[in-house]
Parts: sequence; C-alpha cells; structure tokens
Amino acid sequence: MLRHKKQLIYLLGFMGVGKTTIGVLLAERLRWPFIDLDRTIEAGQGTNIRQIFEHAGEPFFREIEHAALLEASRTEPAVIALGGGTFVQPRNFQYIQENGGATIWLDCPLDELRRRCEVKNDRPLFRDAISFAQLFEQRLPFYRRADFRVSTEGQRPEDVVENILRLQVI
Ligand code: S3P
Repeated sequence: MLRHKKQLIYLLGFMGVGKTTIGVLLAERLRWPFIDLDRTIEAGQGTNIRQIFEHAGEPFFREIEHAALLEASRTEPAVIALGGGTFVQPRNFQYIQENGGATIWLDCPLDELRRRCEVKNDRPLFRDAISFAQLFEQRLPFYRRADFRVSTEGQRPEDVVENILRLQVI
C-alpha cells in the first residue's frame, strides 16, 4: 500500500448514506474484515444507539465512540464504517490522520438521505426535516476533509463499491 501507511479504509458520511451496506460489500470484495463502529458500540454496551443516547446522553456516546474507533483501528487490514458524527469529532479526525488509512466520504443529496432515514426510528439525531438539514450543512465541511469522495446518489451499492475500487486507494 503506497498512499496510506495502513491497510485501513474508513467509510464516512451522513446517516442513511449506506456506510454499512457498502462497507459489507467492499470488505467482501477485498476479503478484508468489516467493522461497523455503531454495531461494536451496541455490542459493547448491550443495548442500541437510541437507548444509549436516551439514557446516557450524547457526550457519553461520543466517549465510547472514540474508544471504539481506537479499538477497531487495531485490526488491519479492515474496512471500518464510521457513524455519521465520528469524523466530525476533532480528536477522531486527528487520530485517523495520524494513525493512517484512507478516508472515503460517501456523499448523497439531502433529500435522498431524508427519505431513507424517515422510514426508520433508530437514529436519535433524526428529529425533524429542519434539524436534519441543519446538521447536514454543519457536517459537510468536515466530510470534505476525507481523502476521497464517492457519490451514492441513485446508485446500487454494488456500483458504489466498483467506484471505490477504481480509486485504487489500497
Ligand atoms: C450519528 C449517526 C449514527 C450513530 C449515532 C450518531 C450522528 O450512525 O452513530 O446515532 O451523529 O450522525 P449512522 O450514520 O450509521 O446512522
């Protein structure tokens, strides 16, 4: 691997963009392990993300999210799907920059993301269309700091994976 000192691919982007779906397929193609940060947090806490937010609050969630990121990044090679807010937290961004690995922003227009998220009830930060849009706008500058941007708009997950593989990030 030339560009990045670690065989790690971090998938990032807003909630509903398909980080998990695409991560599973990408890891299969690469024959690498796949780690979903939210799922490891849930397994570690024995409950779901919504409950963690409700009972312990977002600051606690961000603490365990950071710890989960450090733990997950010890597996190499690996495809790691971050949560929608992981890359936005300065210490997580700094850690990934220093530790190495490729960061790929999965991008998608707001309307499509909203349509995907409003049919589910598992995202504590999806409250209403206005705050969803505000959060999206706030986060764009952080997502833009990823090494690569891949659009998922109107695309099948398999096609997104092909586009990622074409980037030759590894
Ligand atoms: C969050 C997104 C969620 C999850 C948590 C916080 C966020 O992950 O980590 O609810 O801050 O945007 P997904 O992006 O996988 O939904």
